[in-house]
Amino acid sequence: MDKIVVRGGASLHGSVEISGMKNAALPIIYACVLVEDKCIIENVPDVRDVALSLNILREMGATVNRIDKTTVEIDCTNVRCGTSKAELVQKIRASYYLLGSEFGRFGRAYVAYPGGCDFGGRPIDQHIKGFELLGGTVKADCEHVEIESDHGPCGTSIFFDIVTVGATINVMLAAAMAEGTTIIENAAREPHIVDLANFLNTCGARISGAGTDVIKIKGVDSLHGCTYAIIPDMIEAGTYMIAAAATGGCIHLTNVIPKHLECISSKIEETGAVVDEYDDSVVVTGKPSIRKANVKTHPYPGFPTDMQPQMAVLLCLANGVSYVSEGVYEKRFRYVEELIKMGASIKVNGRTAVIEGGKPLHGADVVAVDLRAGVAMIIAALCAEGTTEISQIHLIERGYDDVVGKLRSMGADIEKVSYPD
Ligand code: UD1
Repeated sequence: MDKIVVRGGASLHGSVEISGMKNAALPIIYACVLVEDKCIIENVPDVRDVALSLNILREMGATVNRIDKTTVEIDCTNVRCGTSKAELVQKIRASYYLLGSEFGRFGRAYVAYPGGCDFGGRPIDQHIKGFELLGGTVKADCEHVEIESDHGPCGTSIFFDIVTVGATINVMLAAAMAEGTTIIENAAREPHIVDLANFLNTCGARISGAGTDVIKIKGVDSLHGCTYAIIPDMIEAGTYMIAAAATGGCIHLTNVIPKHLECISSKIEETGAVVDEYDDSVVVTGKPSIRKANVKTHPYPGFPTDMQPQMAVLLCLANGVSYVSEGVYEKRFRYVEELIKMGASIKVNGRTAVIEGGKPLHGADVVAVDLRAGVAMIIAALCAEGTTEISQIHLIERGYDDVVGKLRSMGADIEKVSYPD
C-alpha cells in the first residue's frame, strides 16, 4: 500500500509548472474516436485517469503512442464500436464520453455505466435526454448504456434542465458529425468545453458559442487529424495557490491562463493573500494572518466545486467562522471527518459546512476519500504540527501530475512511501 507522508511546518517557496488540464484532456482523448486519422495531443498531464483512458482506447483497437511525457499520438481509425472493457470504464467518470463519440461516429453506442468519485447520486438523465433528442433510442441500467439509431445523430435543439459539463460535452461529441445543426441551450461554460470545441474545430468541426450558454454545432461528414495542445489545469493551479496561501509562502505558477483562475484568485485574495497576474503566470504570496470568507460553489465562472475541499482547509486556518456551501453536488463533505481527525472544527449541515477557523492542526493518519479531498489533506498536512500519513493516494494520482515532486521542489517535507500490504 502506498501512502503520502508529510511533516508539516514548511512554507512553500519557488516555482511550479502547471500541467495540462485533466478534465480537458479526457474529453479530447475520447473525441479522437470520432477521427479516422492520427491526432497528436500535446500538454497532456501524466495522471492515472489519462493513462486509463488511453488503455481503454487501445483495447478498442486504437493505436496510441506516447511520444514524450506530455505528448500522445492517437489513431482511432481501427476502433470498434461497443468494445470498451467494462472493468476499465467503471473506474472513471469521463469514460462516459465514449457514448457521445461512438454515437457520433457509428450511429450507436454500447458502454458500461461509468464510475468516478462518490459525491452522492450522479444521474445521467441529461445525457440521455440529449442523445434521445439527437434521434437515439437509449437503454440504460446500472451496468450498461446502449444507444441505437436508424440513421445516426440528427441535428436538434436541446435545453438542459441544469448546467452540466458532462452532458454538454457528450452532446457536442455526438453532434459534431450529425446530420444538420444542433443548438445546446443552458450549456456549461467551463474552459474545458471551449478547449474541446477548439480541438474539434481544428479537426474540421463547425462549433461556435463554446464558453457561452448557447453552443451551435453544424454537423460535418468527417473529421481529420491534427496537432493540438491542451490548456493548463486551473484546478491544479488553484490547488497550489491555496497551498501557498495556507503555508504563508510565496510561489510562482507558470503555464497558467490567469483569466481561468479569476474565480479562485478573487476568493484567495478575500482571505488576505496577494495574487499578482502576468501573461501566463501568477505569483501568490501568503500572509501570516488569514481572514475568514464565505464560499459557494457554482458552475463556471463561479467558484469551482473541485476547489471546495482545498478552500475549506485554508478557512480552517482563518480567524473566525466561515461558511462553505456546495452548489453542484449532493454530497461533497466526506473529507470533513478526516480534517476533524487533524484538529479542525467543522460542522456540516446539509450542503453547508460551518468552519470555526484558527484551531491548530496536528498530524494524523487520514484517508484521501476522493481526488480533490485527497489533495486537500496534503495542504492540511503541510500546515499541521507533526507528521500526517495519507492513504488511498491512488485517488490523488488520478488527477495530479507528480504532486509529491512539485511540492518537494518548493520546500515541502513530503514523500511517497510504499508499505507492504
Ligand atoms: C465534471 C468534472 C468534475 C467536476 C464537475 C463540475 C470531469 C471528468 N469531471 O463532472 O471534476 O466536479 O464537472 O465542474 O470533467 N447531473 C444531473 N444529470 C445529468 C448530469 C449531471 O443531475 O445528466 C448533475 C450532477 O449529479 C451534478 C451536477 O449535475 O450534481 C453537475 O454535474 P456535471 O457538471 O455533469 O459534472 P461531471 O461532468 O460529472
